[in-house]
Amino acid sequence: MLSIAITGANGQLGQSLRAIAPLFPNLDLKFFNRSELDVTNRKSIQEAFGSKHFDYLINCAAYTNVVGAESNSEAANLLNGLAAGYLAEAAQKNKTHLVQISTDYVFDGTKLEPYVPTDLTNPLSVYGQSKLLGEQLVAQNCDHYSVIRTSWVYSEFGSNFYTKIKTRADEGQILWITDEYIGCPTYAPKLAQHILSGITKGDLPQGVSHFAGKEVMTWFGLARKLLPEADIRVAPKEKQPLSVNRPKYSALAG
Ligand SMILES: NC(=O)c1ccc[n+]([C@@H]2O[C@H](COP(=O)([O-])OP(=O)(O)OC[C@H]3O[C@@H](n4cnc5c(N)ncnc54)[C@H](OP(=O)(O)O)[C@@H]3O)[C@@H](O)[C@H]2O)c1
Repeated sequence: MLSIAITGANGQLGQSLRAIAPLFPNLDLKFFNRSELDVTNRKSIQEAFGSKHFDYLINCAAYTNVVGAESNSEAANLLNGLAAGYLAEAAQKNKTHLVQISTDYVFDGTKLEPYVPTDLTNPLSVYGQSKLLGEQLVAQNCDHYSVIRTSWVYSEFGSNFYTKIKTRADEGQILWITDEYIGCPTYAPKLAQHILSGITKGDLPQGVSHFAGKEVMTWFGLARKLLPEADIRVAPKEKQPLSVNRPKYSALAG
Protein backbone atom coordinates (compact mmCIF):
# COMPACT_ATOMS: atom_id res chain seq x y z
CA MET A 1 0.00 0.00 0.00
CA LEU A 2 1.43 3.41 -0.98
CA SER A 3 1.61 5.96 1.83
CA ILE A 4 0.82 9.58 1.02
CA ALA A 5 1.27 12.69 3.18
CA ILE A 6 -0.87 15.76 2.45
CA THR A 7 0.14 19.17 3.83
CA GLY A 8 -2.19 22.18 3.97
CA ALA A 9 -5.00 19.64 4.28
CA ASN A 10 -7.75 22.08 5.26
CA GLY A 11 -7.66 24.10 2.03
CA GLN A 12 -9.97 23.40 -0.88
CA LEU A 13 -7.59 20.96 -2.62
CA GLY A 14 -6.84 19.24 0.70
CA GLN A 15 -10.55 18.89 1.44
CA SER A 16 -11.16 17.62 -2.11
CA LEU A 17 -8.49 14.94 -1.63
CA ARG A 18 -10.18 13.95 1.63
CA ALA A 19 -13.59 13.80 -0.07
CA ILE A 20 -12.44 11.43 -2.83
CA ALA A 21 -10.11 9.37 -0.62
CA PRO A 22 -12.69 6.53 -0.23
CA LEU A 23 -12.37 5.93 -4.01
CA PHE A 24 -8.73 4.98 -3.43
CA PRO A 25 -8.78 2.34 -0.69
CA ASN A 26 -5.34 1.13 -1.79
CA LEU A 27 -3.72 4.44 -0.72
CA ASP A 28 -2.83 5.19 2.88
CA LEU A 29 -3.46 8.94 3.21
CA LYS A 30 -2.24 11.00 6.16
CA PHE A 31 -3.58 14.56 6.29
CA PHE A 32 -1.62 17.32 8.03
CA ASN A 33 -3.43 20.60 8.55
CA ARG A 34 -1.58 23.82 9.36
CA SER A 35 -1.66 23.27 13.14
CA GLU A 36 -0.32 19.72 12.75
CA LEU A 37 2.50 20.71 10.39
CA ASP A 38 3.57 24.27 9.63
CA VAL A 39 5.40 23.90 6.30
CA THR A 40 7.37 27.11 6.90
CA ASN A 41 9.07 25.40 9.87
CA ARG A 42 12.00 23.46 8.44
CA LYS A 43 12.68 21.60 11.69
CA SER A 44 9.05 20.40 12.02
CA ILE A 45 9.19 19.17 8.42
CA GLN A 46 12.37 17.22 9.08
CA GLU A 47 10.81 15.68 12.20
CA ALA A 48 7.51 14.77 10.51
CA PHE A 49 9.12 13.14 7.48
CA GLY A 50 12.19 11.75 9.24
CA SER A 51 10.14 9.68 11.68
CA LYS A 52 7.84 8.00 9.16
CA HIS A 53 8.42 7.19 5.49
CA PHE A 54 5.93 8.38 2.88
CA ASP A 55 6.05 7.35 -0.78
CA TYR A 56 4.43 10.63 -1.87
CA LEU A 57 3.98 14.07 -0.35
CA ILE A 58 1.26 16.28 -1.85
CA ASN A 59 1.80 19.89 -0.82
CA CYS A 60 -1.55 21.72 -0.75
CA ALA A 61 -0.31 24.46 1.61
CA ALA A 62 -0.08 27.85 -0.04
CA TYR A 63 -0.48 31.58 0.30
CA THR A 64 -3.35 31.98 -2.17
CA ASN A 65 -4.49 35.55 -1.45
CA VAL A 66 -3.30 37.12 -4.71
CA VAL A 67 -4.20 40.67 -3.65
CA GLY A 68 -2.81 40.25 -0.10
CA ALA A 69 0.49 38.92 -1.46
CA GLU A 70 1.27 42.30 -3.06
CA SER A 71 1.71 43.88 0.37
CA ASN A 72 2.95 40.70 2.10
CA SER A 73 5.63 39.51 -0.26
CA GLU A 74 7.77 38.11 2.55
CA ALA A 75 4.96 35.85 3.80
CA ALA A 76 4.03 34.79 0.24
CA ASN A 77 7.65 33.98 -0.64
CA LEU A 78 8.13 32.06 2.58
CA LEU A 79 5.05 29.86 2.15
CA ASN A 80 4.93 29.49 -1.65
CA GLY A 81 8.68 29.60 -2.23
CA LEU A 82 11.00 28.68 0.62
CA ALA A 83 8.63 26.17 2.26
CA ALA A 84 8.35 24.26 -1.03
CA GLY A 85 12.15 24.06 -0.94
CA TYR A 86 12.10 22.74 2.64
CA LEU A 87 9.62 20.05 1.63
CA ALA A 88 11.80 19.17 -1.37
CA GLU A 89 14.86 18.75 0.89
CA ALA A 90 12.87 16.40 3.14
CA ALA A 91 11.52 14.52 0.11
CA GLN A 92 15.04 14.03 -1.24
CA LYS A 93 16.37 12.84 2.10
CA ASN A 94 13.52 10.40 2.72
CA LYS A 95 13.06 9.06 -0.84
CA THR A 96 9.64 10.60 -1.19
CA HIS A 97 8.11 11.85 -4.45
CA LEU A 98 6.98 15.47 -3.99
CA VAL A 99 3.82 16.75 -5.68
CA GLN A 100 3.86 20.55 -5.67
CA ILE A 101 0.90 22.54 -6.99
CA SER A 102 1.62 25.66 -9.00
CA THR A 103 -0.32 28.16 -11.05
CA ASP A 104 -1.12 29.76 -14.41
CA TYR A 105 -0.03 33.06 -12.78
CA VAL A 106 3.60 32.15 -13.54
CA PHE A 107 2.77 33.34 -17.08
CA ASP A 108 2.28 36.93 -18.25
CA GLY A 109 -0.78 36.23 -20.41
CA THR A 110 0.58 37.66 -23.65
CA LYS A 111 0.38 34.37 -25.53
CA LEU A 112 -2.65 33.95 -27.78
CA GLU A 113 -3.03 30.21 -27.43
CA PRO A 114 -2.98 27.85 -24.42
CA TYR A 115 0.26 27.73 -22.46
CA VAL A 116 2.26 24.49 -22.45
CA PRO A 117 4.67 23.52 -19.65
CA THR A 118 7.77 24.54 -21.63
CA ASP A 119 6.55 28.10 -22.31
CA LEU A 120 8.57 30.95 -20.90
CA THR A 121 7.42 32.09 -17.44
CA ASN A 122 7.12 35.76 -16.58
CA PRO A 123 4.89 36.32 -13.52
CA LEU A 124 3.20 39.70 -13.19
CA SER A 125 2.32 39.51 -9.48
CA VAL A 126 4.04 38.77 -6.19
CA TYR A 127 1.85 35.66 -5.89
CA GLY A 128 3.00 34.44 -9.33
CA GLN A 129 6.64 35.18 -8.50
CA SER A 130 6.41 33.34 -5.19
CA LYS A 131 4.86 30.28 -6.83
CA LEU A 132 7.58 30.29 -9.49
CA LEU A 133 10.19 30.43 -6.74
CA GLY A 134 8.53 27.33 -5.26
CA GLU A 135 8.79 25.53 -8.61
CA GLN A 136 12.47 26.40 -8.88
CA LEU A 137 13.34 25.34 -5.33
CA VAL A 138 11.53 22.03 -5.78
CA ALA A 139 13.49 21.30 -8.97
CA GLN A 140 16.78 22.30 -7.30
CA ASN A 141 16.30 20.30 -4.13
CA CYS A 142 14.82 16.96 -5.12
CA ASP A 143 15.10 14.47 -7.97
CA HIS A 144 11.62 12.97 -7.87
CA TYR A 145 8.88 15.53 -8.17
CA SER A 146 5.75 16.56 -10.05
CA VAL A 147 5.01 20.27 -10.27
CA ILE A 148 1.40 20.50 -11.44
CA ARG A 149 0.30 23.92 -12.66
CA THR A 150 -3.42 24.47 -12.41
CA SER A 151 -5.74 27.46 -12.75
CA TRP A 152 -8.89 29.14 -11.41
CA VAL A 153 -9.57 26.41 -8.85
CA TYR A 154 -13.10 26.26 -7.46
CA SER A 155 -15.19 23.85 -5.43
CA GLU A 156 -17.82 23.65 -2.72
CA PHE A 157 -14.98 23.51 -0.15
CA GLY A 158 -13.46 26.48 1.67
CA SER A 159 -13.40 30.01 0.35
CA ASN A 160 -13.11 30.35 -3.41
CA PHE A 161 -14.82 31.97 -6.41
CA TYR A 162 -17.79 29.59 -6.31
CA THR A 163 -18.46 29.76 -2.56
CA LYS A 164 -18.09 33.57 -2.58
CA ILE A 165 -20.51 34.23 -5.46
CA LYS A 166 -22.97 31.63 -4.12
CA THR A 167 -23.12 33.41 -0.75
CA ARG A 168 -23.76 36.76 -2.47
CA ALA A 169 -26.39 35.29 -4.80
CA ASP A 170 -28.15 33.59 -1.86
CA GLU A 171 -28.37 37.03 -0.22
CA GLY A 172 -30.14 38.28 -3.37
CA GLN A 173 -27.29 40.50 -4.54
CA ILE A 174 -26.61 41.34 -8.17
CA LEU A 175 -23.28 39.77 -9.09
CA TRP A 176 -20.97 42.10 -11.01
CA ILE A 177 -18.24 39.92 -12.49
CA THR A 178 -15.34 40.88 -14.72
CA ASP A 179 -15.02 39.55 -18.26
CA GLU A 180 -11.47 40.90 -18.65
CA TYR A 181 -9.59 37.66 -18.05
CA ILE A 182 -9.64 34.37 -19.93
CA GLY A 183 -8.58 31.05 -18.43
CA CYS A 184 -9.50 27.45 -17.65
CA PRO A 185 -11.54 27.00 -14.47
CA THR A 186 -10.62 23.80 -12.66
CA TYR A 187 -12.92 21.88 -10.34
CA ALA A 188 -10.75 21.00 -7.32
CA PRO A 189 -12.04 17.40 -6.91
CA LYS A 190 -11.06 16.75 -10.57
CA LEU A 191 -7.52 17.90 -9.80
CA ALA A 192 -7.56 15.71 -6.68
CA GLN A 193 -8.72 12.74 -8.80
CA HIS A 194 -5.96 13.42 -11.37
CA ILE A 195 -3.32 13.30 -8.63
CA LEU A 196 -4.53 10.22 -6.75
CA SER A 197 -5.29 8.29 -9.91
CA GLY A 198 -1.84 9.19 -11.32
CA ILE A 199 -0.21 7.95 -8.12
CA THR A 200 -2.25 4.74 -8.14
CA LYS A 201 -1.51 3.96 -11.79
CA GLY A 202 2.10 5.16 -11.60
CA ASP A 203 1.60 7.58 -14.49
CA LEU A 204 1.55 10.95 -12.72
CA PRO A 205 3.63 13.24 -14.99
CA GLN A 206 7.15 13.89 -13.62
CA GLY A 207 8.68 17.35 -13.79
CA VAL A 208 6.39 20.26 -14.72
CA SER A 209 2.94 19.54 -16.16
CA HIS A 210 -0.39 21.31 -16.54
CA PHE A 211 -3.80 20.15 -15.35
CA ALA A 212 -6.84 22.39 -15.77
CA GLY A 213 -10.49 22.24 -16.81
CA LYS A 214 -11.03 21.77 -20.54
CA GLU A 215 -13.23 24.82 -21.12
CA VAL A 216 -11.69 28.23 -21.80
CA MET A 217 -13.82 31.09 -20.45
CA THR A 218 -13.99 34.37 -18.53
CA TRP A 219 -14.86 34.74 -14.83
CA PHE A 220 -18.20 36.14 -16.00
CA GLY A 221 -18.77 33.00 -18.11
CA LEU A 222 -17.86 30.80 -15.18
CA ALA A 223 -20.30 32.59 -12.86
CA ARG A 224 -23.09 32.12 -15.42
CA LYS A 225 -22.24 28.45 -15.73
CA LEU A 226 -22.13 27.82 -11.98
CA LEU A 227 -25.18 29.89 -11.02
CA PRO A 228 -27.46 30.01 -14.09
CA GLU A 229 -30.40 31.38 -12.03
CA ALA A 230 -28.51 34.30 -10.46
CA ASP A 231 -28.56 37.92 -11.65
CA ILE A 232 -25.05 38.17 -13.09
CA ARG A 233 -23.79 41.18 -15.03
CA VAL A 234 -20.49 42.19 -16.58
CA ALA A 235 -18.67 44.46 -14.13
CA PRO A 236 -17.84 47.86 -15.57
CA LYS A 237 -14.34 49.06 -14.75
CA GLU A 238 -15.51 51.20 -11.77
CA LYS A 239 -17.09 48.14 -10.09
CA GLN A 240 -13.85 46.16 -10.26
CA PRO A 241 -11.69 46.30 -7.15
CA LEU A 242 -8.33 48.01 -7.62
CA SER A 243 -6.27 45.03 -8.21
CA VAL A 244 -3.12 43.22 -8.99
CA ASN A 245 -1.60 42.64 -12.39
CA ARG A 246 -2.94 39.32 -13.57
CA PRO A 247 -2.43 37.51 -16.89
CA LYS A 248 -5.26 38.51 -19.27
CA TYR A 249 -5.07 35.13 -20.95
CA SER A 250 -3.84 32.08 -19.07
CA ALA A 251 -5.48 28.99 -20.56
CA LEU A 252 -3.37 25.93 -19.84
CA ALA A 253 -2.78 23.02 -22.18
CA GLY A 254 -1.09 19.73 -21.31
N1 LIG B 1 -7.29 28.68 -5.69
C1 LIG B 1 -6.93 28.87 -6.95
O1 LIG B 1 -7.65 29.46 -7.77
C2 LIG B 1 -5.62 28.32 -7.45
C3 LIG B 1 -5.25 28.55 -8.78
C4 LIG B 1 -4.04 28.05 -9.25
C5 LIG B 1 -3.23 27.32 -8.40
N2 LIG B 1 -3.61 27.14 -7.10
C6 LIG B 1 -2.70 26.37 -6.22
O2 LIG B 1 -3.39 25.21 -5.80
C7 LIG B 1 -2.92 24.82 -4.50
C8 LIG B 1 -4.11 24.56 -3.58
O3 LIG B 1 -4.83 25.79 -3.46
P1 LIG B 1 -6.18 25.89 -2.63
O4 LIG B 1 -7.14 26.66 -3.46
O5 LIG B 1 -6.57 24.55 -2.09
O6 LIG B 1 -5.68 26.84 -1.45
P2 LIG B 1 -6.40 27.23 -0.09
O7 LIG B 1 -7.82 26.79 -0.09
O8 LIG B 1 -6.09 28.67 0.13
O9 LIG B 1 -5.62 26.34 0.98
C9 LIG B 1 -4.32 26.63 1.39
C10 LIG B 1 -4.08 25.89 2.68
O10 LIG B 1 -2.74 26.17 3.11
C11 LIG B 1 -2.79 26.19 4.52
N3 LIG B 1 -1.62 26.86 5.09
C12 LIG B 1 -1.39 28.20 5.17
N4 LIG B 1 -0.21 28.41 5.77
C13 LIG B 1 0.29 27.20 6.09
C14 LIG B 1 1.47 26.76 6.75
N5 LIG B 1 2.40 27.63 7.19
N6 LIG B 1 1.66 25.43 6.92
C15 LIG B 1 0.74 24.54 6.49
N7 LIG B 1 -0.40 24.90 5.86
C16 LIG B 1 -0.61 26.20 5.66
C17 LIG B 1 -4.05 26.94 4.85
O11 LIG B 1 -4.38 26.65 6.18
P3 LIG B 1 -5.67 27.27 6.93
O12 LIG B 1 -6.81 26.43 6.43
O13 LIG B 1 -5.34 27.08 8.35
O14 LIG B 1 -5.73 28.71 6.50
C18 LIG B 1 -5.02 26.33 3.84
O15 LIG B 1 -5.66 25.21 4.38
C19 LIG B 1 -1.98 25.95 -4.05
O16 LIG B 1 -0.66 25.58 -4.31
C20 LIG B 1 -2.37 27.12 -4.94
O17 LIG B 1 -1.28 28.02 -5.13
C21 LIG B 1 -4.79 27.61 -6.61
